[in-house]
Amino acid sequence: MSQLQVKVTARREEAEGIVSLELAAADGKPLPPFSAGSHIDVHLPGGLMRQYSLCNPPHESHRYQIGVLRDPNSRGGSAAVHEAVRPGDVISISEPCNHFPLVQARRTLLLAGGIGVTPILCMAERLAADGAEFDMHYCARSPARTAFRERIAQSAFAGRVAYHFDDGEPGQKLDLATLIAVPDANTHIYVCGPSGFIGHVVDTAKAIGWPASNVHFEYFGAAPASGDAAGDAPFDVKLASSGQVFTVPAGRTVIQVLAEHGVELPVSCEQGVCGTCLTRVLEGEPEHRDLYLTDEERAANDQFTPCCSRARSALLVLDV
Ligand code: FES
Repeated sequence: MSQLQVKVTARREEAEGIVSLELAAADGKPLPPFSAGSHIDVHLPGGLMRQYSLCNPPHESHRYQIGVLRDPNSRGGSAAVHEAVRPGDVISISEPCNHFPLVQARRTLLLAGGIGVTPILCMAERLAADGAEFDMHYCARSPARTAFRERIAQSAFAGRVAYHFDDGEPGQKLDLATLIAVPDANTHIYVCGPSGFIGHVVDTAKAIGWPASNVHFEYFGAAPASGDAAGDAPFDVKLASSGQVFTVPAGRTVIQVLAEHGVELPVSCEQGVCGTCLTRVLEGEPEHRDLYLTDEERAANDQFTPCCSRARSALLVLDV
């Protein structure tokens, strides 16, 4: 994917531990268009690369806006943004890419947990601009840790947003089971936030009987799918096209091992979230560690995500 040079034109403290950055093309030209739910890869000082959802209105071409939570458990990306990126800096980003697109629906329910509000906010902007029917629920630990409240209050869709604070009265907490009590084929649900929040929404919707195709989710930050390398066993992968066999040791991914031997598979998130690396499996049984495939797709065992998934069998034959 081609890279863009962008200048940091604004940096704002949006809430406790959350900053937003505005990015404009370094050459002053309009930025490539994007759709609600898109993210960009941001190349940070120190050689780190992180993906951030765009949260500004998707009709804008003069800027991209991202929101970044300073996460003490992060692997360095959020600290780099908070400490090392300042207005005037020029950084490199990818063009926007969307793994979390809105689909046409009679009604849309947007659910944001914490900093997961960023793609949800962009979706709200799109839906409001389209005059679509939607509601947004925004869960956060406390008002002080809730980013973009002022922006939402001043938006055309302020009346559609309900806040739920962990430190607030029990009566204002999100009552998800009641909110989605009746499965509705004409309603699509979008959820973004921490893995526990997404899991709660996805599991609740499934238990109530919502079709899986109506529930859309995207994790931010590191996905909880990488597993524990200490318990991993090595396995072999065979490329059906050439017959070459490579061993994937504990602590290495199929993608990494193949790349070392000059076999490049398409890859993006490297966390089992986006599905970019999805590869057909011709023989053997994968150990699925992604968050992308449905339960049915996993059970079929005919494809897997080599960026994070491994094998239950000694050998996987890949359609590569
Ligand atoms: Fe995103 Fe593998 S690269 S799922």
